[in-house]
Amino acid sequence: MPNKIIVYYSLEGSTRLMAETMARTLSADILELKPLKEINPNGFLKYFWGGRQVVFKEKPKLEIFTKNPLDYDIIIIGTPVWAFTFSPPLRSFFTRVKLRDKKIGLFCCHEGNPGKTLENLAKELAGNAIIGQMNFLNVKNNKEKNGEKAKDWALSLKI
Ligand SMILES: Cc1cc2nc3c(=O)[nH]c(=O)nc-3n(C[C@H](O)[C@H](O)[C@H](O)COP(=O)(O)O)c2cc1C
Repeated sequence: MPNKIIVYYSLEGSTRLMAETMARTLSADILELKPLKEINPNGFLKYFWGGRQVVFKEKPKLEIFTKNPLDYDIIIIGTPVWAFTFSPPLRSFFTRVKLRDKKIGLFCCHEGNPGKTLENLAKELAGNAIIGQMNFLNVKNNKEKNGEKAKDWALSLKI
């Protein structure tokens, strides 16, 4: 069995829920990207600070990784959609870890407008094989349905 890891960032828990469901389904390891200085997930200001990070292409400093993604053949990468693209901690991740010749699945969580998130992630990952892409809408209001979708998608990946 090839070894697998789910790498994700989540501010409010939706991406975490999907990532943990996939990890259980595939018996995969998991690496959560945690900014050293996190945005407050409560209230409206998160849109301001988060949006600002996207606009300025910021790379927030991350906590030390508990796993080395380069040790894995199959990597599933998940992010919330922020301002129609992937969240800034993923930008930090791509700077720190240069993935090549991996099989990669991509997913995002959003509230109706995923923008170019998956396309932009795929661009950052040129040199790898993208084996699947999925988006999850309004996870926090549809946990069960999205959980089933996450399981089905994980099992459908050609790994
Ligand atoms: C800064 C910020 C920007 C967002 N931008 C978008 C967006 O462009 N499109 C969208 O559909 N949802 C947007 N959202 C909503 C999140 O993508 C959605 O709630 C997602 O499920 C959150 O995932 P998480 O719980 O793993 O953090 C935004 C949320 C934040 C905090």
